[in-house]
Parts: sequence; structure tokens; C-alpha cells
Amino acid sequence: MNIERKSWTPDSWRDKQAKHLPEYKDKVALDSALKKVENFPPLVFAGEARKLERNLAQVANGSAFLLQGGDCAESFAEFHPDQIRDSFKVLLQMAIVLTFGASCPVIKVGRMAGQFAKPRSSEYENINGKEFQSYKGDIINDISIENNLREPDPERLIQAYNQSAATLNLLRAFAQGGFANLKRIHQWNVSFLGDSQASKKFEEIAGRIEECLTFMEACGINEKSVRQVRETDFYTSHEALLLPYEQALTRIDSTTGKWYDVSAHMLWIGDRTRQPDGAHVEFMKGISNPIGIKVGPSIEKDELLKLLDILNPNNIPGRITLICRMGAKKVADILPSIVKYVESDGRKVVWTCDPMHGNTEKSSNGYKTRSLKSVVSEIQQFFQIHRSEGSYPGGVHLEMTGQNVTECTGGVQEITENDLSSRYHTFCDPRLNASQSLELAFLLSDFLKEERDQTLKATINI
Ligand code: PEP
Ligand code: CO
Repeated sequence: MNIERKSWTPDSWRDKQAKHLPEYKDKVALDSALKKVENFPPLVFAGEARKLERNLAQVANGSAFLLQGGDCAESFAEFHPDQIRDSFKVLLQMAIVLTFGASCPVIKVGRMAGQFAKPRSSEYENINGKEFQSYKGDIINDISIENNLREPDPERLIQAYNQSAATLNLLRAFAQGGFANLKRIHQWNVSFLGDSQASKKFEEIAGRIEECLTFMEACGINEKSVRQVRETDFYTSHEALLLPYEQALTRIDSTTGKWYDVSAHMLWIGDRTRQPDGAHVEFMKGISNPIGIKVGPSIEKDELLKLLDILNPNNIPGRITLICRMGAKKVADILPSIVKYVESDGRKVVWTCDPMHGNTEKSSNGYKTRSLKSVVSEIQQFFQIHRSEGSYPGGVHLEMTGQNVTECTGGVQEITENDLSSRYHTFCDPRLNASQSLELAFLLSDFLKEERDQTLKATINI
């Protein structure tokens, strides 16, 4: 039996039960890869993570909105600057639609630059009558079943780190090097959207923003004088599943003396690894980054409060984001009492809706898919529930891409089950494509505007 250490260290999770971690056969190779990662430069800086926490505190207080999105699983094969650019573009467009439509600051967080490790429901899968280890994400093993490539390979840790570093480098350049300048808003439209309805609606907003900018310029406010006109803040996040990798990137911040996991600005705990006495919670409690907790239908209310006690004992706003992923059919039954319980206990959290993971279904032709209709339905119910409970629906967490894929059904392109096979590229769960994402942003903007109008009315009536 393990003897438990009293205080937290980056490796104290090793005394606890860890679910969904791979078993590496070659321990020497694993140690050597982890040693290398330990000596690599940080991917993000502690000061940036603190800034995100302050931004999320604004969300917790009801004065900003969190837009978090990106791939279910990034892959080595699909790594390309155009992919990164297009996902960034769509997130930027969505954020503008929300900011403009609902006059609300939007905090942008990508599921990018590190979203490589996946929990799987079963350790093995049967392919053509043969058993194989499940694919666990490119940081662990290969999706191919050839040549024993499903065996976890420590060298992949290095490749995942390098890809994350290159992705972040490009994202930083896009966010701060001129591309995100509001004056270039017309260039953000993803080319394949052509003159689709969503694209036309976006162009309309872009035109109005251009007018505002010209007016502001006449008043002496321009890109030179205001940073927010010429650049934006863009943060990264991923599920902190592969603890040996996260540990190797956990460092003490020299400014504050606190531990930060410098693999991403924000990390979250998956729905399958959020046991209060488990290894993942132990690891997360010691890092000072903002933390997400996936909250699925199996959550117990007391268990959730226990998690908040462990992970946020000082009840700091912005530290915890509860990413609710109940499913359109269950959310109305389960979420209200959870919200009530957490809010009445005075907990300061960001409530956000992941309308993807509770709405996965199998199409009649065998594809894992999601319908835009159920995605919208869960978000709509999420907003209604918070309205009734007097709490604030603070954001969304989406699996999406800037590519023209056919993985989720519905939307103005009217993707049907029969279309799924044409461009089904995901390495794990089905993503909304650029058109579906933008369409969703317009709906969200209406929900958010209504929410803010109601809040304003309530304040005036007091
Ligand atoms: C995910 O976000 O890709 C995921 C696996 O989600 P969950 O932990 O909510 O199942
Ligand atoms: Co997923």
C-alpha cells in the first residue's frame, strides 16, 4: 500500500488511484522522454494564466462570456497552419458576433495547442474481429492498427510538446501580430463559406463595425491608441488527463512562488476522472491555473461541493469553471438542483455549457454524430435554467473546427446522415464545422442579449 504524503507536490498524484492513464511497456524510454519535457521551456506564462483567471472572474460575476472551443482531439496528421488559422478565424468571428450582438466582452479559449489525450470508455476495441488497444490520442498512441502502433509510445510526448509549441507560436502571432486587428475583420471569413447565409450575416456585422471604427477614428481613437482594436487575447486549454506529461510541465512561478502547469493557460478535469480522492483531482488542487470541471449526469451534489472544497478552498472567482454536459434530454431534470445547491452555498463559479458530450449518438449508417438541433436545444435549456435560478449562464464549450467537415448533422447546409461519410475527418468526437459554428454564434448572441436585457430590467426595477 502507498504511504500518502502530507503536502502537495507535482508528483503527489502518484499516491492516488489514477484512471485512464496508459501503461507504458518501456519505462526507461518513458523516463527519458519525461526528463526531456521537464527541461523544455514553458508553453505559457504564469502571468497569462493569472490574467485568464481575472477574465474568468468577470464571467463569474456576470459581466463577460466564455467562448471555449476547438478539436475533440488534435492530431499529428492534421497538423497544418491552415487548420490552426481557420479554427482561430471562426472563434474570432463567433466572439465578434457575441460581443457585437450582446454588447458583452468575450473571453476566447481554444481547445488547442495541447488537446491530445483522450479517455476511452473501453481499454480495448474490436476491429474486424480482432482486439486492439483503444486509440487514446496522439500523445499516447497511433490511430492506425498497423505495425503495433496502438502500443503507447513515450516519444509521442515530445512530438505533442513540439506541436503544441508551434501551434501556440502561430496563435500568438495571429492574436497579436495584426491578423486580429478589427480593421481586418473582412478577412476573417473562412473562404469555403462563400456567400452562405451565415457568412452574409457576418459581413453585415463586419460592415457595421467598420463604420464604428471610422467614427471612433474621427474621435481620435484608433488602433494605435487602443490595444483592443489592433490585437486580442487568446488562451489555450486542454484536458489534464496524461498526468506524467502535465507533471513534467509543472513549474514554480518566480513572481508568486506558486505552482503552475505551463502546458496551457487553463486545464480541465474530465467527467471520468473527477473522483475527489483520485489522482487527477490531487494533481489539479496544487496548480494555480484556472481549472475546469466537467459535470456530467452522474454527478452527486455533495460530491461536487467536495470537489469545490478541495480545488477552490478560498472560493476565488475565476478559478473554477463548471463545464456542464448533461445532454439535451437530461439537462432540465438534472441541472436546476445542482445550480441551486452550488449557488445557495455561495460558491463563486463560472457556469458553462458543453452541449456536445451529452448529445453524441450513432447514425443509422454507423457514424458517431451529433445534431445541431440537440446542441442548440441544450444551450437554450441551459440559459432558461439559469434564468429561473437567478444565476448567470457564463459560456459555452464546443467541439468545432474551421474546416468544412461533415461530422454533425443539421444547420443551414442541411447535413444529413447520408452526408456524414463525405468529409468525416475527426480523430475522436464529431465537431461542428465553420458554418454550423457561426450559425450557433448568431443564436447564442440572441440568447445572451435577452439574458442581459432581462438583467438590466431587473436592475432598473430594484
Ligand atoms: C472531451 O471534452 O473531449 C471529453 C472527453 O469530455 P467528457 O470528459 O465531458 O466526457
Ligand atoms: Co470529445
